[in-house]
Amino acid sequence: MPHQPPEFHDRMLSLALARVSEAAAMASAHLIGHGDEKAADQAAVNAMREQLNKLEIRGVVVIGEGERDEAPMLFIGEEVGEGVGPEVDIALDPLEGTTLTAKDMPNALTVVAMGPRGSMLHAPDVYMDKLAIGPGYPLDVVTLKMSPAERVIALAKAKGCDPDDINVCILERERHVDLIDEVRSTGAAIRLITDGDVAGVMHCAEPHLTGIDMYMGKGGAPEGVLAASALKCMGGQMYGQLLFRNEDETARARKAGIDDLDRIYTRDEMVTRDVIFAATGVTDGNLLPGVKREPHRFTCETILMRSKTGSVRRITYSNPV
Ligand code: FBP
Repeated sequence: MPHQPPEFHDRMLSLALARVSEAAAMASAHLIGHGDEKAADQAAVNAMREQLNKLEIRGVVVIGEGERDEAPMLFIGEEVGEGVGPEVDIALDPLEGTTLTAKDMPNALTVVAMGPRGSMLHAPDVYMDKLAIGPGYPLDVVTLKMSPAERVIALAKAKGCDPDDINVCILERERHVDLIDEVRSTGAAIRLITDGDVAGVMHCAEPHLTGIDMYMGKGGAPEGVLAASALKCMGGQMYGQLLFRNEDETARARKAGIDDLDRIYTRDEMVTRDVIFAATGVTDGNLLPGVKREPHRFTCETILMRSKTGSVRRITYSNPV
């Protein structure tokens, strides 16, 4: 009988995954506030790759730093791990918020998710229209097909509050001017973020800590799959629709195996099987503190989650530097 690779033992691998995101955060922490996005990103990429290659997995990066010709490391399709053990898909963003890190602004994270082979949407590097809310609401209480104002009103009704009590997180971009106006016309508040919509979506899952009820707007599609992985563990609903600006972008989608270019994906269509997820704070945020830098010692905090059980761990790691 041909040799079958072992199954994905997420319970054991999850602790190893925390090491991967910790290493990236510790490496980029040296560059917090130094104004150099590229150097901060490269430090995180190097550290994440080194740690992934120590794991007993047959891993393939499905969400990574870009296509092979644009990213020499952790590119889409790169094989990582020791080449023994379960076959897994890996979605990662070694530094989600390069500018946030370079400017020491809140909510920069290192992010990595892992699932069995074939469990994650191979989203190309295009934009995605995203909508997310936290757990505890009826299915489809808000959808991408509703207008932004309808979403606020429907969510307020489901929450039992006025639209003024709803707080929506949106990326501050020129392309969102109309969206922002429409949401504000309902009376809802908006928290504008300059970058980092993985954190933006995750904020919806813990509204008591973050004050955010809903995330809306267009951001990176790879970040959309990472955010869907996080919400699959934390609870909450999410929708995403890929957006294409030119033929090159539609070609990227087709190359990734996507035929229905107009499809609206639910959270569980972006991430179809149980996954494990780790994120470490680089700069201070509502979900995670940033790396604490003291002379000769760095300390960081990681959120480590498994969708199968819904378990959420917060791990503090401290190491001499
Ligand atoms: P970085 O790649 O510089 O870390 O930026 C991340 C990010 O803010 C994402 O969170 C978001 O999805 C995307 O960029 C938005 O893209 P754009 O800056 O083109 O609007």
